[in-house]
Amino acid sequence: MDGEVTFWPSGRTIKVKPGTTLLDAARRANIPIRTRCGGKAACFMCKVTVRPGSELQPIADNERRKLSGLEGDNIRLSCQAKVAGKVNVEIPLDPLRSAVARQLARQAEETDELW
Ligand code: FES
Repeated sequence: MDGEVTFWPSGRTIKVKPGTTLLDAARRANIPIRTRCGGKAACFMCKVTVRPGSELQPIADNERRKLSGLEGDNIRLSCQAKVAGKVNVEIPLDPLRSAVARQLARQAEETDELW
């Protein structure tokens, strides 16, 4: 069975071989994921949220240790999580976009309070 990964919020889908990491799948789909350690499970920057029902290979001890409980919230290290079937992945906004979105939301709330 082929693997299939859909990245959100773009909705871009790519077919991959089972065992492909989410980070490699993202790179092949031209979806940027920030990293610093080159995929060695050391920097913790490649975190993604995997939607419930996604088919990944069992989590390895190394990744489980790094996540220290976050895997229960469907957080995974994209450099370590490996595709087993259909997977839906939420890619976090980069920090600059996230800061701009928060600022815009704050301004919208302040504008609403004036009316
Ligand atoms: S790329 Fe550094 S922890 Fe995944």
